[in-house]
Amino acid sequence: MPLGTTLDRYILHRQNAFAFATGELSQLLRDIALAGKIVHREVNRAGLIDLTGDMGLQNVQGEAQQKLDVIADIRFRRALTNGGEVCALISEEEEGIIFTGNNKGKYVVAIDPLDGSSNIDVNVSIGTIFSIYRRVTPVGSEPTLDDFMQGGHEQVAAGYILFGSSTMLVYTTGHSVNGFTYDTSVGEFILSHPNIKTPQNGAIYSYNDGNLNAYAEPVQRYLAACRERQYSARYIGSLVADFHRNLLKGGIYLYPPTAKNPNGKLRLLYECYPLAFIAGITGCLAVNDTEAILNIKPTSLHQRTPLYIGAPAMVEELMGYLV
Ligand code: AHG
Ligand code: MN
Ligand code: MN
Ligand code: MN
Repeated sequence: MPLGTTLDRYILHRQNAFAFATGELSQLLRDIALAGKIVHREVNRAGLIDLTGDMGLQNVQGEAQQKLDVIADIRFRRALTNGGEVCALISEEEEGIIFTGNNKGKYVVAIDPLDGSSNIDVNVSIGTIFSIYRRVTPVGSEPTLDDFMQGGHEQVAAGYILFGSSTMLVYTTGHSVNGFTYDTSVGEFILSHPNIKTPQNGAIYSYNDGNLNAYAEPVQRYLAACRERQYSARYIGSLVADFHRNLLKGGIYLYPPTAKNPNGKLRLLYECYPLAFIAGITGCLAVNDTEAILNIKPTSLHQRTPLYIGAPAMVEELMGYLV
C-alpha cells in the first residue's frame, strides 16, 4: 500500500488479502485506533484541564496511579467493550480479568494503557502497548485465565501507540510491522512507516544508569564496552519511546534484574510480549537472561521479566557476556 494510505483502508486491504477473514480482528484494530485518538486528545490537553498528577491511589503493581493511567485505562476498556469483538481484557491498572460481557467475542487483549507515566507531567513521550490473542475457550462461554496464558508465540496481533512529537500507531498482525502517523487535521492515522526493519547493528544504548551498581557484573561489563566505544546513551524512561527510537535507529534497551527485583520491572504480558512480537518481525532480538522473551511460559497476569531488546548484533553481543 502506498504512503499516505489511511489506517482504515490499510486494514481493509489486509483483510481482503485473506479469503476467510471475517473482519472481526479488523474491527478490533479500528477500536484500538479510536481509543488511541481519544487518549491523544486527553494527553494533548492534560496540562490545561487538570489531568496531570497522581490519583492518590495505588495499582496492583504498588505504583501510584497517575490520572492519565486511569483515564487511558477507561478509554481503552470502553472502546474494546463497545466494539464487541473482545470478550475479556487484562490491564496493568487492574488486578484481575476484565469481562466485557461480549462472550461471543473471539479475542482477548492485554494492555498497558499508559506507558511511561512518570513522564506525563513533564510533557515527555508516553505510549500504549497492546497484545491480541484469539481466545482458546469456546465462543459464547465465559473467558478464563487460559485465554491469557497462551504464550507470546500465540499473539495474533500486537502494537503500540507513541504519543511523541507526533502520535504514531505501530502494529503487526504477524506479517510485517507498519507505522501510521496521526494527522490531527483530518483525524486519521496515515501510513508513514511501511514494513519497518531495524538495522543489523547500532550505536545507542538505553538503560537507567541509577541502577547500574545493582546489575550483575556481566551486564556492567557490556555497558562499559558500550561506553568505551562512545556509543550514545539515550534513556527516556518510557519503554515505548525508547523501543521505537532504537527500532528505527539501531540500539539496545536493557531493563536487567537486580537483587531487589530479580525479575526486573517490566511486565511480560502487556509490555514485553507485544514488543518482542514486533521485534521479531523487524529483525530485532528480545531476550531475558536465559531465553527468548516469546519462549517464556506465562504463569500469572502481571508477571515480570528482565528485558534486553534491540538490534540483533547488539543483543547477541550482550548474550555473549551473560553466558
Ligand atoms: P508504566 O508507566 O506503564 O508503569 O511503565 C513504566 C516502565 C517503562 O515505561 C519504563 O521503561 C520503565 O518503567 C522505567 O523504569 P525506571 O524509572 O525504573 O527506569
Ligand atoms: Mn505503571
Ligand atoms: Mn509500561
Ligand atoms: Mn502503564
